[in-house]
Amino acid sequence: MGERSPSGMSFGRSAVDYDRLRPGPPRAAVDWLLPGGGGGVVDLAAGTGALTRLLSARCRQVTAVEPDARMRAVLTDRCPEVRTLAGSGEHLPLADACAHAVLVSSAWHWLDPALAVVEIARVLVPGGRFGVLWTRRDDDVPWVAELDAFVRGLVRDIPLREPCYQVDLPDGAPFTEVRTCVVRGTVERTPEELVGLYTTYGFFLRLPEAEQRRVRARLADHVARHPLLAAASRVALPLRSVCWRATRTG
Ligand SMILES: C[S@@+](CC[C@H](N)C(=O)[O-])C[C@H]1O[C@@H](n2cnc3c(N)ncnc32)[C@H](O)[C@@H]1O
Repeated sequence: MGERSPSGMSFGRSAVDYDRLRPGPPRAAVDWLLPGGGGGVVDLAAGTGALTRLLSARCRQVTAVEPDARMRAVLTDRCPEVRTLAGSGEHLPLADACAHAVLVSSAWHWLDPALAVVEIARVLVPGGRFGVLWTRRDDDVPWVAELDAFVRGLVRDIPLREPCYQVDLPDGAPFTEVRTCVVRGTVERTPEELVGLYTTYGFFLRLPEAEQRRVRARLADHVARHPLLAAASRVALPLRSVCWRATRTG
């Protein structure tokens, strides 16, 4: 299937938890990425459908493309109304010039950009929108940065693969009007769900099981003693979406 890295296929191991715990992008980020007018929209690397659900509420023709059958199974269960296809960013199972927008949420860093840009350009109509976003915990907020640092300290030997939040178009790629923006939001989580959220990332999924148990237990203990989080029944987790978009020339 031409995946850039087998690590990018690790999420399916916990597809149900992923769907329950990972926040989707803020609505305002999706509004900024979508072009005006109608037409087909593709959610590429759709996972369990966090973005697909937001698109489906706004657009009539949504197609989700996802290579991992375990993620697709949750996605089709949650979004039965959406056309869901097996495929990757490097091999889109779509006709030429069939889509008005192709969006990629929290996954661009798993794709081979040189191959994926060619495929996305192929399936977009002239004037179509190519959009990429990453939605993460907003570590500009001090308590979020502190929690991230605590987790990093627990897995010191494991390189955390943080996305670089950048789309580098190859020379000559048929895109113009490149724009970026940052959208902030919050999502409510229980302290238990907040601990669970960290267990949905690639760095955690690649740990041996005994290490996973240790990291989860230490984090749960830390949160249970945390001055802001311990007594809360629900926490407003700050989110930051880094958004990038471009327009297909031609
Ligand atoms: C972090 S998840 C993001 C899922 C979803 N877009 C979201 O916002 O929750 C990354 C997804 O990229 C998919 N993926 C990995 N390599 C891919 C590739 N080469 N082409 C398309 N999708 C890929 C994984 O299977 C996984 O579902």
